[in-house]
Amino acid sequence: MRLGPKRVLILYGGIMSIDMSNLPKHIGIIMDGNGRWAKKRGLHRTFGHREGTKRVIEIVEACYKLEIKSLSLYAFSTENWKRPESEISKLMDLLIYYIENQLEKIKKNNIKINVLGDISQLPTKVKLSVERALNETKHNDKMILNIGLNYGGRDEILRATKLVAEEVSNGNMKLEDITSDIFENYLYTSGQDELDLLIRPSGELRVSNFMLYQLAYSEFWFSDVLWPDFTEEVLLSAISDFQKRSRRYGGIDE
Ligand code: FPP
Repeated sequence: MRLGPKRVLILYGGIMSIDMSNLPKHIGIIMDGNGRWAKKRGLHRTFGHREGTKRVIEIVEACYKLEIKSLSLYAFSTENWKRPESEISKLMDLLIYYIENQLEKIKKNNIKINVLGDISQLPTKVKLSVERALNETKHNDKMILNIGLNYGGRDEILRATKLVAEEVSNGNMKLEDITSDIFENYLYTSGQDELDLLIRPSGELRVSNFMLYQLAYSEFWFSDVLWPDFTEEVLLSAISDFQKRSRRYGGIDE
């Protein structure tokens, strides 16, 4: 598939057009449906996560080719600790596998890895691997890959609120200085473009505590496709639909 500078036509159950001058700058994905994908095949849930990791690789590459500025992936929520220990451990292993296997390519492609969430509570080997990825990509600026790890949108807002309150109580900031622009500097996505497109596969119609602040004006795109079946073409069809939306931000069309 060739991506020209302006417009590309792709065959995917018909003709689909992507306007290369109107791409979302920031895409968020709630990767869901791994367990159901595995169950449908009579496999253990962890096979779904393994297949889902392959889609992570594919979708990061697709976004890189499209020159999307930020991609945010929800890998592990603050609520996912409720899962059986064996599943949590498999998810952590897959994360390490992803980093170890992809870091060189990520570095070569000038992609910066950023974490949404508190990694201090992750198992040491995961923390070390993630810290290495953060450190070795911190100067990259072609694209930001945000990985939600032990992440919750409410936690993020509370954390930012506490950090801002601390600045005020230390005398570094006045109450009247707190604008949304200033507040956003204390979120995990500080300095990044707003979330333009939020994608959730697997048929669930909810946001599950993902990027609650950032999704204020996001376009939502839901699909029944399960995450392990979420190919580059599905991503392109989400982007194509996004481009048909009229974004008014509370205003009216001209
Ligand atoms: C939700 O599916 C998926 C997750 C909780 C984990 C997502 C993780 C990965 C795709 C792999 C590791 C991540 C990276 C960034 C390498 P589910 O298990 O809730 O599916 P179900 O609703 O069908 O049970």
